[in-house]
Amino acid sequence: MSSYDVIIIGSGPGGYVSAIRCAQLGLKTACVEGRDTLGGTCLNVGCIPSKALLHATHMLHEAEHNFAQMGLKGKSPSVDWKQMLSYKQSTIDTNTKGIEFLFKKNKIDWLKGWATIPEVGKVKVGDEVHEAKNIVIATGSEPASLPGIDVDEQVIVTSTGALSVNKVPNKMVVIGAGVIGLELGSVYARLGAEVTVVEYLDAITPGMDGEIQKNFMRILKKQGINFVLGAAVQSAEKSKAKATVSYKLRKDDSEHQLDADLVLVATGRKPFHDGLGLDKLGVKLTDRGQVAVNDQWQTSVEGIYAIGDVIEGPMLAHKAEDEGMAAAEVIAGKHGHVNYGVIPGVIYTHPEVSNVGVTEEQLKKEGRAYKVGKFSFMGNARAKAVFAGEGFVKLLADKDTDRILGAHIIGPGAGDLIHEICVAMEFGASAEDLAMTCHAHPTYSEAVREAALACGDGPIHM
Ligand code: NAI
Repeated sequence: MSSYDVIIIGSGPGGYVSAIRCAQLGLKTACVEGRDTLGGTCLNVGCIPSKALLHATHMLHEAEHNFAQMGLKGKSPSVDWKQMLSYKQSTIDTNTKGIEFLFKKNKIDWLKGWATIPEVGKVKVGDEVHEAKNIVIATGSEPASLPGIDVDEQVIVTSTGALSVNKVPNKMVVIGAGVIGLELGSVYARLGAEVTVVEYLDAITPGMDGEIQKNFMRILKKQGINFVLGAAVQSAEKSKAKATVSYKLRKDDSEHQLDADLVLVATGRKPFHDGLGLDKLGVKLTDRGQVAVNDQWQTSVEGIYAIGDVIEGPMLAHKAEDEGMAAAEVIAGKHGHVNYGVIPGVIYTHPEVSNVGVTEEQLKKEGRAYKVGKFSFMGNARAKAVFAGEGFVKLLADKDTDRILGAHIIGPGAGDLIHEICVAMEFGASAEDLAMTCHAHPTYSEAVREAALACGDGPIHM
């Protein structure tokens, strides 16, 4: 039996980051992982492989649509799907091996297998029981399917299957216009598939700023993606290599069907904590099946913590990482903190979409006095030079104090641009602070400054 200060269960971005921080803080640390490789959903079947496919297919899109105009003539590249999948796999391998290296460097033991917690202070992996003064549950989430749909990961797939299909589909139906549906729908649309997204609500990307939702959908439609909104999917029936998706339009209850050779079920994810034995231990869950924690990530049982997708909050790798580091600080007797008001969200389509803080709809609902500063990428020289003038930066600031309350970006590099606003918000900055900060020319980030200027006396280039 080995003894540890901390055993972390799960090696996704929450778990492995927490393990590294625990080790850095001098705690004897182990991390349990049942997969053959470290990194969890994000590195193995989520964020990283999807970004590889998004990058490759974006290059194809550029070659097909913009090369000739730049004087780059000749045949567009053809798609070698097997090679694209192998490129994707090599991206996964480099990253998962990188974490193995970091574990060795930080002297973290990888306990290989699936963990159970037989009693407080003990973690069982295979036949071995290990002692742990503290346990961190970082077991993540799994796709939530719909009743009436049997996922076979061949024809009817979750994001996991969608990342390794045998061939590019001709027709694809995506159920759910959330982040996963739109990212993976984009990949296959760029590869030539006819993609239809069926969404229950009347807008795509639930919870996002309304103006972004509308513009984002318009841009995706222009890219050839079809949308059916206000449609509740009832079933997806597989017959051989095809499937039929049945849905009801909410406005009139009329029934419709769509045929496809690939159906992606992207209707959300649910916390995963099966097999840990939480019932027996008395670890409390929320009504939505998440592990309940206090503001120090402690569960209802002393010595057991939980972080990431398995607890409340947005299911985002970086939110899990922050919680992982903060929980490690708490365990080490220090102060752990996560500012939940400043967690960015990014959709890695083209253009990218990002957000932080509140939406305009939330401000209206709360009856708060606010001002909006907006700037279109059409006024940004760098964006126009690279055919990326579509989209805008929208900054929301308090009407009286000018303090930045939120930002919503659709456009080139949106996923990176959002972070200067995150930093500004962390420091309680005003829109004027951002506007008075020199931004290099020509960069996309000038659009952020212009949006900040638009909160005051007005932008220059519009
Ligand atoms: P989601 O919650 O973002 O979207 C699911 C969508 O499915 C919703 O719009 C919902 O209205 C719709 N839906 C549900 N039932 C339906 C039905 N019967 N018929 C039609 N539509 C239906 O979930 P998604 O996209 O599966 O992502 C899961 C989680 O993973 C999210 O929390 C997301 O933030 C995270 N994620 C984040 C990424 C990123 O940060 N870039 C990438 C991938 C996932």
